[in-house]
Amino acid sequence: MTDIKLLAKNLSNIENEALDKIQSCNNLDRLKQLRSKYFGKDSDISKILSNIKYIRNNEEKKTIGEYSNKIKSNIQSQISDKEAILKNIQIEEEISRNIDISLNKFETNIGSLHPVTQMIDILVETFQYFGFSVVSGPEIETDWFCFQSLNLDINHPARDMQDTFYIEENHILPRTHTSSVQIRTMLNEKPPIRIIAPGKVYRNENQDQRHTFMFYQYEGLIIDKTTNISDLKSILTTALRNIFDNSDIELRLRHSFFPYTEPSFEIDATCMVCLGKGCKVCSNKGWIELLGAGMVHPQVLRNVNIDPNVYQGFAFGGGPERLFMVKNMIDDLRLFYENDLKFLSQFRKI
Ligand code: DAH
Repeated sequence: MTDIKLLAKNLSNIENEALDKIQSCNNLDRLKQLRSKYFGKDSDISKILSNIKYIRNNEEKKTIGEYSNKIKSNIQSQISDKEAILKNIQIEEEISRNIDISLNKFETNIGSLHPVTQMIDILVETFQYFGFSVVSGPEIETDWFCFQSLNLDINHPARDMQDTFYIEENHILPRTHTSSVQIRTMLNEKPPIRIIAPGKVYRNENQDQRHTFMFYQYEGLIIDKTTNISDLKSILTTALRNIFDNSDIELRLRHSFFPYTEPSFEIDATCMVCLGKGCKVCSNKGWIELLGAGMVHPQVLRNVNIDPNVYQGFAFGGGPERLFMVKNMIDDLRLFYENDLKFLSQFRKI
């Protein structure tokens, strides 16, 4: 006869032992062994269960049967829970083993506006403040727009300063300066006129620190009935103080010659590095040459059908690169066009 109390006691011991072992188990292989220990064919539980059939009393048989099933499913579910926990730990360990925190993070290169574009933006914004509108003209020009209309007749010696690539057939050429946009604007619009025209120009130059075959210019023009040289000086002084973010800057007008202005000037600004005292940057002059300007020549006005007895005004032209170079103490124009990110990335602006 089988003592069901003894069976129950044995089952309960097995359960306690199993739960203890499952709880302290900390690896999946060991858990697998525990599973076969408690549920394999030769397991203690199986042995006990095989004895149930000898119990004669049906009531007792049922009770011990139910009790053993309860114990089995408890052990089973504890093993499953533990298995889930250990698998999670294993995954986390694998992840942390595969993350190399010394690895460089991926950096995306964010593009930036080119320094020349940045300077053109500042110029445009500054002159818009004075009521100038922004215009542009074609880079391929006719000889008339680029030279003749500006008093640079076919054999004028001043053409030598702006040698370019001529296309003989149609008398067209890549423009050598943005002054051609003055002419186009005066032909298209009636005074009063206030424009600023930035753009690319092309010359036949040997590349060196100060020359490239392509560079940028900005051309400014005011035409109305009264604008005079003191307006030229005061507008350009305020504009350049704004561009260089320096209110100590003064301008000086040196007499010069351009066939399309009379009188003509070279305009110098106080050297921003030494504030006029003289230094390496300004070759000890205290001044830095920035642009050309003058009162628009009466013949130029006649060339575009504007009466010089009624209208007058000034024009000016310079290079945005030059402004950027002076502002940032750069001494080689070629740097702007070499696409070297080591240079360009120093002036990131989006
Ligand atoms: N066109 C001249 C150049 O390329 C710059 C210039 C000088 C423009 C005087 C002007 C001006 O409008 O009045 O060097």
